[in-house]
Amino acid sequence: MNKAAIYPGSFDPMTLGHLDVIKRASKMFDRLIVSVLNNKAKNSLFSVEERVSILKEATRDLPNVTVDSFNGLLIDYAREKDIHISVRGLRAITDFEYELQIAQTNRKLSHGTLDTVFLTTSLEYAYLSSSSVKEIAAFNGDISQCVPDFVVKLVYEKFKNMN
Ligand code: PNS
Repeated sequence: MNKAAIYPGSFDPMTLGHLDVIKRASKMFDRLIVSVLNNKAKNSLFSVEERVSILKEATRDLPNVTVDSFNGLLIDYAREKDIHISVRGLRAITDFEYELQIAQTNRKLSHGTLDTVFLTTSLEYAYLSSSSVKEIAAFNGDISQCVPDFVVKLVYEKFKNMN
């Protein structure tokens, strides 16, 4: 059986924590689609195209991983792709309530056809979030332990161009 899953998220930008979840999920499923939510309501640092391109570069050595983007509800996107599993990372108990709500909403809205599988984040990345990466970079702090090297440059460039 060909088991596929979607890993949805904002990925603004993708962190080493996201990459860790991607690598581990890619070993569990035959096919993994990492998909960037095109959320116009959210003020993002990187455009959807830039976020997709970062994810593509970071996953180029993972043959069963593809990168895509989506609009609207995850359940509609998953139905379109005929995929029944969503993967999400859980860092700490603070993520749990939010993630539980999304997972249960998706299961209810999809009439049980979209389930969520959680991977607990590796301890070394438990502290990481895209928001903290942006905050650290905005004040010229060191983000080299948070994102891949090629992303470090891109994040600093963004902030430089803003000033
Ligand atoms: O990286 P994020 O921002 O925590 O990811 C959240 C995401 C994209 C998984 C979630 O917001 C989502 O799936 N949004 C799409 C809209 C949707 O389906 N909403 C219903 C579930 S509450």
